Amino acid sequence: MSVSAISGGAPDRYAVVGDPISHSKSPLIHRLFAEQTGQNLVYEAIRIDSEETTFQAQIARLKAQGLKGLNITVPYKLDAFETANALSPRAQLAQAVNTYVFREDGSIFGDNTDGAGLVMDIEQNGMRLFKDQRVLILGAGGAVQGILKPLLDKQPSLIHIANRTAQRAKVLGERFDTHVPISASGWDDIPAEAFDIIINGTSASLDGKLPPVTHTVIGAHSLVYDMMYGAQPTVFLNWAQQHQPTCQRMDGLGMLVGQAAEAFYLWRGIYPKTKPVIEEVRRLIQQAC
Ligand code: ATR
Repeated sequence: MSVSAISGGAPDRYAVVGDPISHSKSPLIHRLFAEQTGQNLVYEAIRIDSEETTFQAQIARLKAQGLKGLNITVPYKLDAFETANALSPRAQLAQAVNTYVFREDGSIFGDNTDGAGLVMDIEQNGMRLFKDQRVLILGAGGAVQGILKPLLDKQPSLIHIANRTAQRAKVLGERFDTHVPISASGWDDIPAEAFDIIINGTSASLDGKLPPVTHTVIGAHSLVYDMMYGAQPTVFLNWAQQHQPTCQRMDGLGMLVGQAAEAFYLWRGIYPKTKPVIEEVRRLIQQAC
Protein backbone atom coordinates (compact mmCIF):
# COMPACT_ATOMS: atom_id res chain seq x y z
CA MET A 1 0.00 0.00 0.00
CA SER A 2 1.42 3.39 -0.76
CA VAL A 3 0.51 6.88 0.26
CA SER A 4 -0.17 9.72 -2.14
CA ALA A 5 1.77 12.95 -2.04
CA ILE A 6 0.15 15.86 -0.24
CA SER A 7 1.65 18.77 -2.11
CA GLY A 8 4.00 19.54 -5.03
CA GLY A 9 7.61 18.39 -5.43
CA ALA A 10 8.92 14.86 -5.20
CA PRO A 11 7.70 13.36 -1.94
CA ASP A 12 10.23 11.95 0.53
CA ARG A 13 10.07 8.17 0.72
CA TYR A 14 9.75 5.98 3.80
CA ALA A 15 8.78 2.35 4.35
CA VAL A 16 8.19 -0.35 6.92
CA VAL A 17 10.09 -3.61 6.39
CA GLY A 18 9.30 -6.99 7.92
CA ASP A 19 7.97 -10.45 7.17
CA PRO A 20 5.01 -10.86 7.07
CA ILE A 21 4.14 -7.26 6.24
CA SER A 22 0.87 -7.22 4.32
CA HIS A 23 -1.13 -6.80 7.57
CA SER A 24 0.89 -3.73 8.60
CA LYS A 25 -1.10 -0.67 9.65
CA SER A 26 1.95 1.59 9.38
CA PRO A 27 1.27 2.86 5.82
CA LEU A 28 -2.25 3.86 6.88
CA ILE A 29 -1.01 5.52 10.08
CA HIS A 30 1.71 7.50 8.31
CA ARG A 31 -0.70 8.55 5.56
CA LEU A 32 -3.02 9.93 8.25
CA PHE A 33 -0.09 11.71 9.95
CA ALA A 34 1.06 13.19 6.63
CA GLU A 35 -2.45 14.43 5.83
CA GLN A 36 -2.85 15.92 9.30
CA THR A 37 0.49 17.76 9.25
CA GLY A 38 0.69 18.58 5.53
CA GLN A 39 3.97 16.70 5.05
CA ASN A 40 4.93 15.66 1.52
CA LEU A 41 5.87 11.99 1.83
CA VAL A 42 5.07 8.49 0.68
CA TYR A 43 5.25 5.43 2.91
CA GLU A 44 5.02 1.83 1.76
CA ALA A 45 5.23 -1.67 3.22
CA ILE A 46 8.07 -3.85 1.92
CA ARG A 47 8.50 -7.54 2.68
CA ILE A 48 12.04 -8.76 3.24
CA ASP A 49 12.12 -12.43 2.37
CA SER A 50 15.13 -13.86 4.19
CA GLU A 51 15.34 -16.74 1.70
CA GLU A 52 15.85 -14.31 -1.16
CA THR A 53 18.11 -11.68 0.37
CA THR A 54 19.80 -10.65 3.58
CA PHE A 55 18.45 -7.86 5.76
CA GLN A 56 21.68 -5.89 5.24
CA ALA A 57 21.52 -6.16 1.43
CA GLN A 58 17.90 -5.05 1.34
CA ILE A 59 18.61 -2.07 3.60
CA ALA A 60 21.55 -1.01 1.42
CA ARG A 61 19.28 -1.22 -1.65
CA LEU A 62 16.54 0.93 -0.08
CA LYS A 63 19.10 3.48 1.08
CA ALA A 64 20.59 3.63 -2.43
CA GLN A 65 17.09 4.23 -3.80
CA GLY A 66 16.96 7.43 -1.77
CA LEU A 67 14.56 6.51 1.03
CA LYS A 68 14.90 8.83 4.02
CA GLY A 69 14.06 6.34 6.73
CA LEU A 70 12.47 3.04 7.66
CA ASN A 71 10.44 1.33 10.29
CA ILE A 72 11.56 -2.19 11.05
CA THR A 73 9.21 -4.82 12.43
CA VAL A 74 9.14 -8.53 13.22
CA PRO A 75 11.40 -10.47 12.76
CA TYR A 76 14.14 -7.93 11.97
CA LYS A 77 14.44 -5.65 15.01
CA LEU A 78 17.63 -7.37 16.19
CA ASP A 79 19.16 -7.33 12.67
CA ALA A 80 18.28 -3.63 12.53
CA PHE A 81 20.05 -3.10 15.86
CA GLU A 82 23.18 -4.87 14.62
CA THR A 83 23.22 -3.09 11.24
CA ALA A 84 22.87 0.52 12.47
CA ASN A 85 25.98 2.76 12.46
CA ALA A 86 24.80 4.81 15.44
CA LEU A 87 22.19 4.12 18.12
CA SER A 88 20.06 6.14 20.49
CA PRO A 89 20.53 5.28 24.20
CA ARG A 90 17.02 3.81 24.31
CA ALA A 91 17.78 1.53 21.33
CA GLN A 92 21.04 0.52 22.97
CA LEU A 93 19.22 -0.51 26.14
CA ALA A 94 16.41 -2.21 24.26
CA GLN A 95 18.97 -4.04 22.06
CA ALA A 96 16.39 -3.70 19.31
CA VAL A 97 15.71 -1.08 16.64
CA ASN A 98 12.36 -0.25 15.02
CA THR A 99 13.27 3.03 13.29
CA TYR A 100 16.07 4.02 10.94
CA VAL A 101 17.02 7.51 9.88
CA PHE A 102 19.20 7.50 6.74
CA ARG A 103 21.48 10.45 7.35
CA GLU A 104 22.92 12.82 4.74
CA ASP A 105 26.45 11.48 5.41
CA GLY A 106 25.32 7.97 4.43
CA SER A 107 25.22 6.56 7.96
CA ILE A 108 22.24 4.77 9.50
CA PHE A 109 20.90 6.02 12.83
CA GLY A 110 18.88 3.40 14.73
CA ASP A 111 16.29 4.21 17.36
CA ASN A 112 13.61 2.35 19.28
CA THR A 113 10.35 4.27 19.58
CA ASP A 114 8.20 1.44 21.00
CA GLY A 115 8.59 2.41 24.64
CA ALA A 116 8.08 6.11 24.03
CA GLY A 117 4.93 5.19 22.09
CA LEU A 118 3.59 3.20 25.03
CA VAL A 119 4.44 5.91 27.56
CA MET A 120 2.84 8.59 25.38
CA ASP A 121 -0.32 6.51 24.95
CA ILE A 122 -0.73 5.84 28.67
CA GLU A 123 0.20 9.35 29.81
CA GLN A 124 -1.59 11.40 27.14
CA ASN A 125 -4.44 9.26 25.91
CA GLY A 126 -4.94 7.27 29.12
CA MET A 127 -4.34 10.37 31.27
CA ARG A 128 -2.24 8.34 33.75
CA LEU A 129 1.24 9.52 34.70
CA PHE A 130 3.81 6.86 35.60
CA LYS A 131 5.43 9.04 38.27
CA ASP A 132 5.18 7.34 41.70
CA GLN A 133 3.03 4.53 40.33
CA ARG A 134 3.56 0.86 41.17
CA VAL A 135 3.94 -0.91 37.85
CA LEU A 136 3.57 -4.62 37.12
CA ILE A 137 4.89 -5.86 33.77
CA LEU A 138 3.94 -9.31 32.53
CA GLY A 139 6.47 -10.82 30.14
CA ALA A 140 10.19 -10.32 29.55
CA GLY A 141 10.58 -10.83 25.80
CA GLY A 142 11.49 -8.45 23.02
CA ALA A 143 8.36 -6.34 23.44
CA VAL A 144 9.05 -5.66 27.13
CA GLN A 145 12.76 -5.12 26.53
CA GLY A 146 11.82 -2.20 24.25
CA ILE A 147 9.68 -0.33 26.77
CA LEU A 148 11.66 -0.39 30.01
CA LYS A 149 14.02 2.57 29.52
CA PRO A 150 11.36 5.17 28.58
CA LEU A 151 9.16 3.82 31.37
CA LEU A 152 11.95 4.07 33.98
CA ASP A 153 12.63 7.65 32.86
CA LYS A 154 9.12 8.53 34.08
CA GLN A 155 10.10 7.53 37.62
CA PRO A 156 7.47 5.07 38.75
CA SER A 157 7.82 4.15 42.45
CA LEU A 158 8.63 0.53 41.53
CA ILE A 159 8.53 -1.97 38.71
CA HIS A 160 7.93 -5.69 39.10
CA ILE A 161 8.59 -7.85 36.04
CA ALA A 162 6.90 -11.26 36.07
CA ASN A 163 7.52 -13.86 33.40
CA ARG A 164 6.82 -17.53 32.70
CA THR A 165 10.60 -18.00 32.73
CA ALA A 166 11.56 -16.17 35.93
CA GLN A 167 15.26 -16.11 35.10
CA ARG A 168 14.62 -14.13 31.91
CA ALA A 169 12.77 -11.48 33.94
CA LYS A 170 15.64 -11.30 36.45
CA VAL A 171 18.30 -10.90 33.78
CA LEU A 172 16.27 -8.19 32.08
CA GLY A 173 15.69 -6.27 35.34
CA GLU A 174 19.41 -6.31 36.15
CA ARG A 175 20.32 -4.63 32.88
CA PHE A 176 19.06 -1.22 33.99
CA ASP A 177 21.06 1.16 36.13
CA THR A 178 18.28 3.11 37.83
CA HIS A 179 17.09 4.47 41.16
CA VAL A 180 13.70 2.89 40.56
CA PRO A 181 13.45 -0.41 42.46
CA ILE A 182 13.04 -3.26 39.95
CA SER A 183 12.09 -6.75 41.12
CA ALA A 184 11.43 -9.86 39.08
CA SER A 185 9.78 -13.26 39.49
CA GLY A 186 7.83 -16.08 37.91
CA TRP A 187 4.02 -16.03 38.03
CA ASP A 188 3.78 -17.52 41.53
CA ASP A 189 5.92 -14.95 43.34
CA ILE A 190 4.31 -11.69 42.26
CA PRO A 191 3.84 -9.48 45.36
CA ALA A 192 0.29 -10.13 46.61
CA GLU A 193 -1.14 -6.64 46.28
CA ALA A 194 -2.84 -4.44 43.74
CA PHE A 195 -0.62 -2.49 41.31
CA ASP A 196 -1.48 0.93 39.87
CA ILE A 197 -0.53 0.05 36.30
CA ILE A 198 -0.43 -3.49 34.89
CA ILE A 199 1.03 -4.02 31.42
CA ASN A 200 0.66 -7.30 29.57
CA GLY A 201 3.71 -7.66 27.31
CA THR A 202 3.49 -11.43 26.83
CA SER A 203 2.58 -12.85 23.46
CA ALA A 204 -0.01 -15.09 25.16
CA SER A 205 -2.92 -12.97 23.85
CA LEU A 206 -1.85 -13.88 20.30
CA ASP A 207 -3.08 -17.41 21.02
CA GLY A 208 -6.07 -16.15 23.00
CA LYS A 209 -4.37 -17.24 26.25
CA LEU A 210 -4.03 -15.47 29.58
CA PRO A 211 -0.82 -15.26 31.58
CA PRO A 212 -1.68 -17.18 34.77
CA VAL A 213 -1.76 -14.21 37.12
CA THR A 214 -4.12 -13.84 40.07
CA HIS A 215 -6.69 -11.11 39.58
CA THR A 216 -5.79 -9.58 42.96
CA VAL A 217 -2.99 -7.68 41.20
CA ILE A 218 -5.74 -5.45 39.75
CA GLY A 219 -7.24 -2.77 41.97
CA ALA A 220 -10.48 -0.86 41.44
CA HIS A 221 -8.55 2.11 39.98
CA SER A 222 -5.74 0.25 38.22
CA LEU A 223 -4.91 0.90 34.60
CA VAL A 224 -4.71 -2.43 32.77
CA TYR A 225 -2.86 -2.23 29.45
CA ASP A 226 -2.48 -4.99 26.85
CA MET A 227 0.27 -4.39 24.30
CA MET A 228 -1.79 -6.49 21.86
CA TYR A 229 -4.87 -5.13 20.10
CA GLY A 230 -7.64 -6.37 17.89
CA ALA A 231 -11.10 -5.53 16.60
CA GLN A 232 -12.51 -6.82 19.90
CA PRO A 233 -11.09 -6.33 23.43
CA THR A 234 -8.30 -8.87 24.07
CA VAL A 235 -8.82 -11.84 26.40
CA PHE A 236 -6.60 -10.11 28.93
CA LEU A 237 -8.71 -6.93 28.99
CA ASN A 238 -11.92 -8.98 29.21
CA TRP A 239 -10.45 -10.90 32.13
CA ALA A 240 -9.53 -7.63 33.87
CA GLN A 241 -13.01 -6.21 33.37
CA GLN A 242 -14.62 -9.38 34.68
CA HIS A 243 -12.67 -9.18 37.97
CA GLN A 244 -12.45 -5.39 38.39
CA PRO A 245 -15.23 -3.74 36.35
CA THR A 246 -14.09 -0.25 37.36
CA CYS A 247 -10.45 -0.60 36.29
CA GLN A 248 -9.26 1.47 33.32
CA ARG A 249 -8.45 -0.66 30.27
CA MET A 250 -6.44 0.12 27.13
CA ASP A 251 -5.17 -2.03 24.26
CA GLY A 252 -1.96 -1.66 22.25
CA LEU A 253 -3.39 0.16 19.24
CA GLY A 254 -2.42 3.44 20.89
CA MET A 255 1.12 2.15 21.38
CA LEU A 256 1.30 1.22 17.70
CA VAL A 257 0.20 4.71 16.70
CA GLY A 258 2.46 6.23 19.37
CA GLN A 259 5.63 4.47 18.17
CA ALA A 260 4.76 5.64 14.65
CA ALA A 261 4.30 9.22 15.87
CA GLU A 262 7.73 9.12 17.52
CA ALA A 263 9.27 7.86 14.26
CA PHE A 264 7.42 10.54 12.28
CA TYR A 265 8.82 13.14 14.67
CA LEU A 266 12.37 11.83 14.18
CA TRP A 267 12.02 12.07 10.41
CA ARG A 268 9.94 15.23 10.02
CA GLY A 269 10.50 17.22 13.25
CA ILE A 270 6.76 17.48 13.84
CA TYR A 271 4.74 15.43 16.32
CA PRO A 272 1.30 14.47 14.97
CA LYS A 273 -1.81 14.26 17.12
CA THR A 274 -2.33 10.58 17.90
CA LYS A 275 -5.87 10.46 19.27
CA PRO A 276 -7.75 11.10 15.99
CA VAL A 277 -5.48 8.61 14.22
CA ILE A 278 -6.10 5.91 16.86
CA GLU A 279 -9.84 6.51 16.47
CA GLU A 280 -9.70 6.29 12.67
CA VAL A 281 -7.55 3.15 12.62
CA ARG A 282 -9.84 1.51 15.19
CA ARG A 283 -12.88 2.41 13.10
CA LEU A 284 -11.31 0.83 10.01
CA ILE A 285 -10.26 -2.31 11.90
CA GLN A 286 -13.78 -2.78 13.25
CA GLN A 287 -15.33 -2.06 9.86
CA ALA A 288 -13.13 -4.77 8.29
CA CYS A 289 -14.59 -7.41 10.64
P1 ATR B 1 7.92 -10.53 21.77
O1 ATR B 1 8.88 -9.87 20.83
O2 ATR B 1 6.50 -10.51 21.32
O3 ATR B 1 8.08 -10.05 23.18
P2 ATR B 1 9.31 -12.90 22.60
O4 ATR B 1 10.61 -12.20 22.73
O5 ATR B 1 9.29 -14.29 22.01
O6 ATR B 1 8.28 -12.09 21.71
O7 ATR B 1 8.63 -12.93 24.05
C1 ATR B 1 7.37 -13.48 24.29
C2 ATR B 1 6.98 -13.23 25.75
O8 ATR B 1 5.69 -13.79 25.99
C3 ATR B 1 7.91 -13.90 26.74
O9 ATR B 1 7.88 -13.15 27.93
C4 ATR B 1 7.24 -15.27 26.91
O10 ATR B 1 7.60 -15.92 28.10
P3 ATR B 1 8.98 -16.81 28.18
O11 ATR B 1 10.10 -15.82 28.34
O12 ATR B 1 8.81 -17.65 29.38
O13 ATR B 1 9.04 -17.58 26.89
C5 ATR B 1 5.80 -14.84 26.95
N1 ATR B 1 4.83 -15.88 26.57
C6 ATR B 1 4.66 -16.43 25.36
N2 ATR B 1 3.64 -17.30 25.36
C7 ATR B 1 3.14 -17.31 26.62
C8 ATR B 1 2.07 -18.00 27.28
N3 ATR B 1 1.31 -18.87 26.63
N4 ATR B 1 1.85 -17.73 28.58
C9 ATR B 1 2.61 -16.84 29.23
N5 ATR B 1 3.65 -16.17 28.68
C10 ATR B 1 3.91 -16.39 27.40
